Amino acid sequence: MQHALGELILERIPVQPKQPLRAWDAADELVLAHLLDEPVDDGARVLIVNDTFGALTCSLRHLDPHTVIESAAGRQATQTNLAGNGLPAIDLYSSTELGAGPLAEPYDVVIIKIPKATSHLVDLLHRIRPLMNRNTRVVGASMVKHLHGSAIDTFDTLVGPTQTSLANKKARLVHATVDELLDVGENPWPVQWSAFGAKLINHGGGFSPSSIDIGTSALLEGVTDFAAVLGPDARQEVRAVDLGCGNGVVGLRMARDLTASGTSATIEAIDDSLLAIDATRRSWSLNDTSAQLVTHHHHRMVEVLDPGSVDLVVVNPPFHNDRVIGDHTAWSMFTDAHRVLRPGAPLVVVGNRHLGYHAKLKKIFGAVDSISSNAKFVVHLARR
Ligand SMILES: C[S@@+](CC[C@H](N)C(=O)[O-])C[C@H]1O[C@@H](n2cnc3c(N)ncnc32)[C@H](O)[C@@H]1O
Repeated sequence: MQHALGELILERIPVQPKQPLRAWDAADELVLAHLLDEPVDDGARVLIVNDTFGALTCSLRHLDPHTVIESAAGRQATQTNLAGNGLPAIDLYSSTELGAGPLAEPYDVVIIKIPKATSHLVDLLHRIRPLMNRNTRVVGASMVKHLHGSAIDTFDTLVGPTQTSLANKKARLVHATVDELLDVGENPWPVQWSAFGAKLINHGGGFSPSSIDIGTSALLEGVTDFAAVLGPDARQEVRAVDLGCGNGVVGLRMARDLTASGTSATIEAIDDSLLAIDATRRSWSLNDTSAQLVTHHHHRMVEVLDPGSVDLVVVNPPFHNDRVIGDHTAWSMFTDAHRVLRPGAPLVVVGNRHLGYHAKLKKIFGAVDSISSNAKFVVHLARR
């Protein structure tokens, strides 16, 4: 990456060999060009939010920024890229930590890679607002195709008067001037609602934060009893994985079905996003279950679970997020499931029909059945 302040060698994690996409975008370059025009004073407190693979953190490491990254893959990429460029490692934070500990004092500069979901931006700006004063420089950055009018309105209503820069290489900056007199009210996030008999906590930056996703509904309506999916030779102590746990709804249903069948269940909830891990823990604390919850903030199940050690994996795979679009994540989730499942143990997957998970699962597991389907979604069952 050749940029206004220097040059870096950056890699993405996970590496996708057939998609040599860059580990930075023109929005990162625009931020750095802006900081060359209007440099940050030495000793300034700098906050970077949603850095993707660490391009901004590496470029601004000399300023000792506080960086918020929720993604486990993004965190690993950032530390790898710092080390790869001879830069010291850095503490990384979740947005839920803003306002406490080292993140409790006001910032001089706030740089936000603007998330696609307005709910996420609303949550972030509410959390950052108490850390801004009228001298804080607030710079948002986004690719034009992801920058909706609602994001600019959100800066306007939660920070103050907002202007956008001219587009450059299809990226744009958002400059907001802090209006200290604005009454922004309470942060509406996180919210609690119920679905499938479970009380659920949802962060604005989580998956489907306002209501249950239609794919998740298709999964939980299609599988009437997760204990029955295990089969007649099921063990008494079941270790089941809620892969990509989001708000924890799937794991809570597994817990209910498994404990109702008399098994002692441990649910291993795994998610790339720390917001999902936080939401899942909080959701579980609201529901009465004898199942054990173990959470893992990671993007590769094989890194946290031993091969052949699991009785059931259930997943509603991500097919796009702020970071990467495509089915690469679904593929690696299926191949990882094949490794961590015991012989004969099931993987349950819900997917939009057009994603063709059936063919992928057949390739990896040899055979695949369909448990249920509707006009849009299919619930697949494959056995190790
Ligand atoms: C489609 S959502 C499903 C959430 C929840 N299970 C549900 O059905 O409502 C997919 C989830 O996978 C998570 N995710 C994305 N990449 C991941 C990865 N590599 N490993 C684990 N989780 C991942 C996302 O953060 C998101 O919470």
